[in-house]
Formats: sequence, structure tokens, C-alpha cells
Amino acid sequence: MSERTFLLLKPDAIQRGLIGEIISRFEKKGLKLAGLKLLSVSRELAEEHYAEHKGKGFFEPTVSYIMSAPVVAMVWEGPEAVALCRTMMGATNPKNADPGSIRGSYAVDISRNIIHGSDSVESAVREIALYFKSEEILDYAKAGEEWLS
Ligand code: PPS
Repeated sequence: MSERTFLLLKPDAIQRGLIGEIISRFEKKGLKLAGLKLLSVSRELAEEHYAEHKGKGFFEPTVSYIMSAPVVAMVWEGPEAVALCRTMMGATNPKNADPGSIRGSYAVDISRNIIHGSDSVESAVREIALYFKSEEILDYAKAGEEWLS
């Protein structure tokens, strides 16, 4: 079933010149890009994004990190896109991520782990609404998608 998921390329991905490389993986997989923007995250947005972790030791460092430089926010669409993207990203801690995954390929540190992805369809709905206005999500036909879904 087709789903939408929210992905965020974190400051280290942009600083290290990995935007194209990472987007390319999702494109080549056959997912459809429905929303894309480069932005600076405000403290309000960062705290809202990571609200479920408020009170944990890594909350403030994570909020500061996300605000430290521009990020790329994206919406990707496709069959079981939430789980598929999580698999492609690899484990949250890059030390445990499969070597071929995004985090397994490009990261070594849990506090600089390159990419965020929604962990459920419900989280995706919440996170997409945090970063995008409804008119910024595009619904369009993509050549070949009839045999991908
Ligand atoms: S947990 O362990 O269930 O609370 O973690 P999780 O829900 O997978 O996501 C935690 C997010 O915070 C980032 N982060 C850390 N997590 C755990 N430990 C440390 N030290 C840490 N530092 C940062 C982690 O990358 C998750 O962010 P996202 O953006 O979701 O990947």
C-alpha cells in the first residue's frame, strides 16, 4: 500500500556534501519525491520534532545539532515507504547499522547520524505537517510507477 514518509537530511549530511548521494538512493529504489526543501530549523521546530525525547540526556544536544546548520526536509511516497526508508537508513546507532545502509555507509556516531526518518505512518503524518504546508506536497504521476506499486 502506498504511504508517505518524512525524511530529514541532518546538518552533517549537508556539510559533508552528501545531499545528492542520499537522494539518489531513494530515487533509484523507485520511491517518488513528493516534497523537498532546504531550511534552517528554529528552536521551536526542533523542540517540537523531538518532543517525545524531552527530559532525556540527548534531547538538548540533539536540538542544538539540528539547529546548527541547514537541513533538507523531504516527503517520499511508495509502497510501505515508512519501513522501506527505515531499512535503507539503517539502525539509529551507526555502529549497529548494516554496512550498505545510509548510516552504515556514512556515519560513525549516534549524535551525527546523517538522516532522520519517520518510525510509523502516524509519525510521518505529524512530521510532514511540522515541516510542510499542504500545498508544498505535490501529487503527480511518475512514469513507471504503475509497475512499482
Ligand atoms: S530511543 O532510544 O528510543 O529514545 O531513540 P529513538 O526513538 O530511536 O530516537 C532518538 C533520537 O535521538 C537521536 N539521538 C540519540 N538517541 C539515543 N541516544 C543518543 N545518545 C542520541 N543522540 C541523538 C537519535 O539519532 C534519534 O534521532 P532521529 O532523528 O529520530 O534519528
